[in-house]
Amino acid sequence: VSEAQFDALKLKAAQLRAAGHDVINLGQAVPGWGPPPSATAAAAAALADPEAHLYSADAGLIELREALAARLRETHGATATADDIIITAGGNQAFMLAAMSVIDAGDEVILPSPLFINHRMSVEAIGGVPIEAPLQEQHGFRPRWSDIAPAVTARTRALVLCSPSNPTGAVVDPDELQRISSEARRRDITLICDETYHRLVFGGAVHCSGASLPHWRDHVVVVGTFSKSFGMTGWRIGYMLASSTLCDQAIKIQDAMIICAPVIAQRAVLAAIGQDWDYPLRFLPELEARRAALRSGFEQVPGWRWIEAMGGLFAFVRVDGSHSAAALAAHALEQTQVVTIPGSMFGRSGEGYLRLSYGAATAAQLSEACRRLGRMTPLPDESAGPIPPSI
Ligand SMILES: Cc1ncc(COP(=O)(O)O)c(C=O)c1O
Repeated sequence: VSEAQFDALKLKAAQLRAAGHDVINLGQAVPGWGPPPSATAAAAAALADPEAHLYSADAGLIELREALAARLRETHGATATADDIIITAGGNQAFMLAAMSVIDAGDEVILPSPLFINHRMSVEAIGGVPIEAPLQEQHGFRPRWSDIAPAVTARTRALVLCSPSNPTGAVVDPDELQRISSEARRRDITLICDETYHRLVFGGAVHCSGASLPHWRDHVVVVGTFSKSFGMTGWRIGYMLASSTLCDQAIKIQDAMIICAPVIAQRAVLAAIGQDWDYPLRFLPELEARRAALRSGFEQVPGWRWIEAMGGLFAFVRVDGSHSAAALAAHALEQTQVVTIPGSMFGRSGEGYLRLSYGAATAAQLSEACRRLGRMTPLPDESAGPIPPSI
């Protein structure tokens, strides 16, 4: 799926909405909640403080780095200190900072696939060579060393793990993470762990942070964000965790890119970390209810398959018969007014799947979406091309 095809889907959805259709948007990966009151109060207070109108240190406010290190230690056993943290303008900038600090042009970077599209775009933007390592649906798309090993070459510089995963919701098994980490370390491969959804883990699954692994400072970089957990996608605050030695290098890139993350937003996150660290956990029962609505909805639709997500905000579903994902998403939108993202946006292993994001949809909307999708007529002809001309 090209960006143009994706834009065409968004345009079509807007047209349907403007024409008065009840469009159910399961497209964008956004949480349905806003920031905790402690964050908005701190931001409001910061407006009256002249200090908040100035740059902070490039690495971010020291109080914020210390508070985050303490919270990650108590929640995940991450052994990072403030010196191992750079506060960034969101998770994507944290990933770009990590990639620019670790990868040289021509280096190969393994992306277990389905992958998060921005990871591939960042690697490509700096001249790295993304190598997809297909994950297995029968293992719930959970990354395993045996899936990754065949992609390793002498030119492999880094391996990216996104857990909980966007787009599949899979969570890497803690023992497997240990294995992947030690195999990567032996080969001098840096493990970049995107832990954007680390607080959104369900039903018994356990999130293990890359910064809790033995010897992590040698070979692990963690990227994270407050965008989803604290409902602050527009505030642009995330972080990179890496050895203080790597951070000392990365800080030069940070200075060249953005100098520092927005200070008023840093103050807001500092308050949220202090007073509302467990704020995201209060949304888990609602997310589980939405997931249950999808489960029972899809159970009643013959031919749809879903490996149940263990975290994040996503369902990654397949319709029997290997349709082009782009054609399927366009067909679903046209016939049912349900916006989904074609799995092929997330690498070759996503072909034939649709990603449904349920962060901002109610359980009732999800049941309705399943009902409508169940009534959809089969795709006319696989060979007809990926996107009907009307989209
Ligand atoms: C896995 C993953 N990483 C990073 C991001 C980007 O986060 P931010 O908005 O903080 O840049 C997203 C957003 O969808 C994501 O799903």
